[in-house]
Amino acid sequence: MKTILITGASTGIGRATAERFFARGWNVVATMRTPKSEREHDRWLVTRLDVTDADSIASALKAANERFGRIDALVNNAGYGLVGTFESMDEARIRRQFETNVFGLMRMCRALIPQFREQGEGMLINVASMGGRLTFPFYSVYHATKWAVDGFTEALAFELAPLCIRVKLIEPGAIKTDFYERSADFVHDRALSAYNAIVDKGMRRMRKAASRGAAPEAVADAIWKAATDGSSRLRYVVGADAKGLLALRRVVPDGVYRRLIAKQLLG
Ligand SMILES: NC(=O)c1ccc[n+]([C@@H]2O[C@H](COP(=O)([O-])OP(=O)(O)OC[C@H]3O[C@@H](n4cnc5c(N)ncnc54)[C@H](OP(=O)(O)O)[C@@H]3O)[C@@H](O)[C@H]2O)c1
Repeated sequence: MKTILITGASTGIGRATAERFFARGWNVVATMRTPKSEREHDRWLVTRLDVTDADSIASALKAANERFGRIDALVNNAGYGLVGTFESMDEARIRRQFETNVFGLMRMCRALIPQFREQGEGMLINVASMGGRLTFPFYSVYHATKWAVDGFTEALAFELAPLCIRVKLIEPGAIKTDFYERSADFVHDRALSAYNAIVDKGMRRMRKAASRGAAPEAVADAIWKAATDGSSRLRYVVGADAKGLLALRRVVPDGVYRRLIAKQLLG
């Protein structure tokens, strides 16, 4: 029986993924910052893990290995969006965004890769975003983290393939989760009034687009496919918006693409 460990499994994509693998017979280590144990089952382990806290990672891996004997797959899902005007963001906030979305994810990879190498196999599944290959206004630092995850993951896949460690990149479009409300770290200093009109318009339009997003179960499906299709495929794009925009970005010149986005969201 296979075991999957998922970060950020309290809500949204992480939660849907945990449920999907559990329903299909895997052992699930559902890790979260604030554990809540609502299911008693020998294939289900909830344990505390904050990706910014190395001790919590070590304890979670120990608990997972003690319970299930091995870990076959890691889903690096934990993350959130720092959103707003870059000029309003202080360094602490920017560092916190990188600390979670980039260094937290790398910390998890560093914790699991030695075990996968010793096991002779394993799978790293990193949840990036369509926003790891294209951009929208007011998500500058979030995009910087997801572009970092995208490049990191693509490069890492080369060096881990000979060790039989498969690496996968999940690229969701807008997904209806807590991402846009509870989890979002929105910052805009209204005193920087030159931005106010475009912030109001842009955020309103982006929230509207997000409200038409796919369900988190669509991402769980893609993660399931990535974990089980036996292929060496790297990228799994989820959602009609992500597929359409990434295709558009490939075929139209850069300037045309950026004018289209600006017109749609700010024009
Ligand atoms: N929703 C979208 O449109 C969308 C699109 C593309 C990519 N994504 C990516 O998908 C991933 C999951 O987001 P979601 O949409 O499912 O949003 P979500 O429902 O807000 O879930 C985010 C999860 O990450 C956890 N988390 C945040 N900081 C953490 C930390 N330091 N350590 C451990 N866990 C932490 C949260 O835990 P708490 O419950 O403790 O806050 C929560 O479980 C993120 O990486 C996000 O960037 C989302």
